[in-house]
Amino acid sequence: MNKKIKIGILTSGGDCPGLNALIAAVTIGGIKRDYEILGIKHGFTGLFDQSKTMLLTEQIVESISSRGGSILGTSNNVDPFHVLEKKHPRDRSKEIINNINKLKLDALLVAGGDGSLSICHQLSQSGVPIIGIPKTIDNDVYGTDLTIGFQTAVQSALKASEAINDSGMSHRRIMLVETMGRSTGWIALYTGVALLADVILIPEIPYSLEKLSSFLKNKHKKEDESSLIIVAEGIATNWTGASLKLKQELDKRLKISIRSNVLGHIQRGGHPLSQDRLFAHECGIFALDLVKDKKFNKYIISNNGDLSCADLFNGSRRTRLISQDDPMIKTAKEIGIYFGN
Ligand code: F6P
Repeated sequence: MNKKIKIGILTSGGDCPGLNALIAAVTIGGIKRDYEILGIKHGFTGLFDQSKTMLLTEQIVESISSRGGSILGTSNNVDPFHVLEKKHPRDRSKEIINNINKLKLDALLVAGGDGSLSICHQLSQSGVPIIGIPKTIDNDVYGTDLTIGFQTAVQSALKASEAINDSGMSHRRIMLVETMGRSTGWIALYTGVALLADVILIPEIPYSLEKLSSFLKNKHKKEDESSLIIVAEGIATNWTGASLKLKQELDKRLKISIRSNVLGHIQRGGHPLSQDRLFAHECGIFALDLVKDKKFNKYIISNNGDLSCADLFNGSRRTRLISQDDPMIKTAKEIGIYFGN
């Protein structure tokens, strides 16, 4: 009897809505093709230890597509090529490769962002048959215009910002709302445009504190004025304290009541929107097709709604920044949103 094709799947990096939908599609689609699907727990960490696995069945995944998080768990601080031990990095990739061999995996599917895809590339260089699937709320994976989780994160940020704006309007305040996104402003830009925010500050467009202050001063000369400013965390060094630091600077320059709000992990959890579920399901089936065609060392990309794949590449920590001529920037400007520059 022929041995069944055995596929491992793991989720790596920060969690995001849609990971469970991906796991469900790979499991259900894979079992239909007579593959065995092995879930690996806690991201790459689970591969340091052969026992951190679970055989995925249709029963296990039948109702998970609607749930946030990842039933497999994930980790966003472990690079097997540089595991910190007593503050010193150690290359433990051989242990992972040995365990992949011992588990007799014919393919490894990894849902990850730029950091995880970079690890995938390095593993593929050692012969691991690997396929990357782009996921991150940040939407910053190079080569793809969409990642699993982004659309739900925008919706969550939008909902929370709307509530904050209601309060800001009642008190005629300036409300600062900080979104995640690391060195890119995708979540801030899409949330701000959807909300018709007054100001959006993103790392891709340097802003001037003086110009922003005089814009707000003029605006608030009018009666009953309030302002909503969406601030990407990436405008601050090390992505830390963006909205609080901005509030402190604006407080020095303006006599207007200002409040800062950090949305945080509310953007990472929650039920995935239908768009993220559909995209995740599509990616799962596309990954199975790549396995069938033995197309390894690739990652899935989506451009204008079409799925295809590209070679995993060296240093794939390359980040997809928002370009100055992005159509959403144009839209934002034309509906009167100010970027502080
Ligand atoms: O990369 C996803 C992300 O949510 C970033 O937007 C954010 O800066 C970071 O992860 C937060 O990571 P942690 O969960 O470790 O605080």
